[in-house]
Amino acid sequence: MELAQIGATPAGGVNRQALTALDGTARDRFTQWCEAAGCTVRTDAIGNLFAHRPGRNPALPAIMMGSHLDSQPTGGKFDGAYGVMAGLEVLRTLQDHAVMTEHAIEVTAWTNEEGARFAPSMMGSLVYTGELALETALQTQDVDGITVASALADIGVESTSLETDRPAAYFEAHIEQGPVLEAQDTTIGVVSGGQGQYWYQITLSGRASHAGTTPMALRQDALAGAAEVITALQRLARARAPACGTVGRMLVSPNSPNVIPDSVFFTAEIRHPDDATRTAMDAEFRQTVDKAAKAHGLIADVRQVLDQPASPFDSQCIHLIRQAAMDNHFSHMDIISGAAHDAVAMSRIVPTGMVFVPCKDGISHNEAEYAKPADLAAGCQVLHDAVLAYDRAHA
Ligand code: HGY
Ligand code: MN
Ligand code: MN
Repeated sequence: MELAQIGATPAGGVNRQALTALDGTARDRFTQWCEAAGCTVRTDAIGNLFAHRPGRNPALPAIMMGSHLDSQPTGGKFDGAYGVMAGLEVLRTLQDHAVMTEHAIEVTAWTNEEGARFAPSMMGSLVYTGELALETALQTQDVDGITVASALADIGVESTSLETDRPAAYFEAHIEQGPVLEAQDTTIGVVSGGQGQYWYQITLSGRASHAGTTPMALRQDALAGAAEVITALQRLARARAPACGTVGRMLVSPNSPNVIPDSVFFTAEIRHPDDATRTAMDAEFRQTVDKAAKAHGLIADVRQVLDQPASPFDSQCIHLIRQAAMDNHFSHMDIISGAAHDAVAMSRIVPTGMVFVPCKDGISHNEAEYAKPADLAAGCQVLHDAVLAYDRAHA
């Protein structure tokens, strides 16, 4: 709740977008909390924050927990922040009870998980895992032309190095951001993996002309073309349930009521748990863009800015999370993550598990996002128990 005050919005959410001054404030606050809990905190060249609590055996790699502090523009208090604070709560508990683990324990706050200000999402964890080149990420610009590099400098990130050491395992706690756990009256989601996704940035270019004098048949209307793509994406996704298809951002030029738009920039994303289906949807989607461009005499520029395969999590991490839920007598169920998370990137380099807790009405990426304290505490207990069980199993 204290963290949610940083970037708090009147409607009860947070607007703490990646690498803004508010994100910087939250990162500084988190660093203070971790240091007060006996950790040292380091940063890498993309701004990922790593809090480190030493273990008994320095020859062992750390066990890492984490999530993200950045939010959507109209985000909620819990998306990302919960997982970071749950990790901090585990560190504080170990400190309070003078527990010495074999492995060092770390909590990471990943830079720009949301991809709202700078695309793609999961930027910090994808640079860490080597899937996204640091230079590419640093040069990425927001809609105002500000680069990631300059935004990092503005909030005081000076590191120029990337980590080469890898943790023994990675565990992330997160709200489900969907309706399943609440509908099943279940406290703990034992996450089996994340679905795959594509992100696109599309520009349709036509010709600006007078809305009153240009006959319909002679127009090169970029917005009319974009509208056809949006409708086609809806149809395409609904035909392949449980696929998701979304256009979330659109910039229209010249954006004047009586000028036929000559250029439209918009984002699109496609998600599906099965990669073959997702690939087929990619081909179909590109055809709908070409068809709409031809129908309206437009030039289409389609950039794929993210291609994330479906990512299964590690069977032992999944087992330890399920076992922790059972030992605490928490109701639990297996669940696939519809949302992408830094754990999806991490699952491709180290054993990874996620624990979900319900959120009210399954609402997230919305200022009304809410989760019950008892559920949040249960998720934190499971995170704690799973990490300690992994520590003992691999001592
Ligand atoms: O887009 C996602 O799935 C994540 O919530 N950023
Ligand atoms: Mn998140
Ligand atoms: Mn999110």
